[in-house]
Amino acid sequence: MAQDFGTPTFFIDEEDFKDRANTWNKSLQDHFGANAGTVYYAAKAFISVAVAKWVKECGIGIDVCTGGELAVAIAGGIDPQKIEVHGNNKSISEIDRAIAAGVKTIVMDSHHEIERVAALAKKHGVVQAVMLRLTPGIQAHTHESISTAHEDVKFGFSIASGAAWRAIIDVQNHPQLELRGFHSHIGSQIFGTDSFQLAADRLIALLAQYRDEFAKELPELDLGGGYGIAYLPNEVALEPDVVMPALYSAVSGACKKYNLKIPKISIEPGRAIVGPTTFTLYEVGTTKDVVLEDGSIRRYISVDGGMSDNIRPSLYDSQYHAVIAHRASVAESISSRVVGKHCETGDIVIRDISLPADIAPGDLIAVPATGAYGRSMASNYNHVPRPPVVAVLKGKARIIVRRENEEDLLALDVKE
Ligand code: LLP
Repeated sequence: MAQDFGTPTFFIDEEDFKDRANTWNKSLQDHFGANAGTVYYAAKAFISVAVAKWVKECGIGIDVCTGGELAVAIAGGIDPQKIEVHGNNKSISEIDRAIAAGVKTIVMDSHHEIERVAALAKKHGVVQAVMLRLTPGIQAHTHESISTAHEDVKFGFSIASGAAWRAIIDVQNHPQLELRGFHSHIGSQIFGTDSFQLAADRLIALLAQYRDEFAKELPELDLGGGYGIAYLPNEVALEPDVVMPALYSAVSGACKKYNLKIPKISIEPGRAIVGPTTFTLYEVGTTKDVVLEDGSIRRYISVDGGMSDNIRPSLYDSQYHAVIAHRASVAESISSRVVGKHCETGDIVIRDISLPADIAPGDLIAVPATGAYGRSMASNYNHVPRPPVVAVLKGKARIIVRRENEEDLLALDVKE
């Protein structure tokens, strides 16, 4: 595969992607029955036209948070009625295109946006279904940059401060908007279920307050994504058969407490669907032994990619595993660091790992679980072309996103 497609390359297992999408969907249906809403695949984790087609085949929905993601979803043939639109600063043009396309729901994040969506719905002569993104005031146990539901964040309307209630009133005053319910996404790469349960409880308390005030019940709740996956051999993913019973017990318990009908429950897994489906294949270019202060030696193994195809270690201290991909080695393992080719010390793929001492230039290194937020956050730092994505299915491989080349890089420079 390295010979056919070059390195670095992302290889994605198409069947695994669909299995994971189907498993989350089935688990939602099994546990919530008639109250199951939609599984919206979070496109930000990774989207391409081919992936959008797989999402469509699985019959699930998609969550987009920019006009770009919306364009790819539509190019992949996703029914707009399966699209939910997110974003804390959607532009007027993005909202306009979303409404024109006929998306199912717009999840609103500010008072300015409520005004904009209402005005654009009026322009298009439609009543737009909307939800409100709420901040339930929860400290999810994950890296600060990917934790989203404590109070001091840019996302959502805070329940505790009364901002959420003011947003509800605001939406109610716009006949062009139909409030369908509430949304919360508490963060990403979360392993426990308690934060999800607490969020559900707080959202449902607000549903009850709404019912008490307006004498009607809102029909939907979207509990977001964030389910943790295993990056290292000793980690255990938060699987659907753990998440769904926990969500069901929290939702049904809270609805019983407040005497509410169970609303339709939707979720938005991104990482949990695409993360484990993909590995990155790199070629080793150089190795170097560095003597550390304590006299021990660390072997630096430089691969032909790095922070331009995986920014997560630099951004969130994320950890990854690596194996030699094309041969077995019986050499002893030594303290190693896998680094990229960028001009930056922080360009690290794996900070600390024991790898066979015989790794040499030309060896192929596979880094598993790079499907989520790898290619989607890739950059052209140092003018490195972004890697392709190759889909593997039933023993056959095909390129679904081609490798960038230097012509692509030069294409944006205006000739003067
Ligand atoms: N729904 C909403 C509204 C979100 O903001 C996100 C992720 C998701 C769903 C999907 O979350 P997931 O199931 O993939 O955890 N770049 C970071 C992750 C940022 C996540 C942003 N929002 C990373 O590489 O870890």
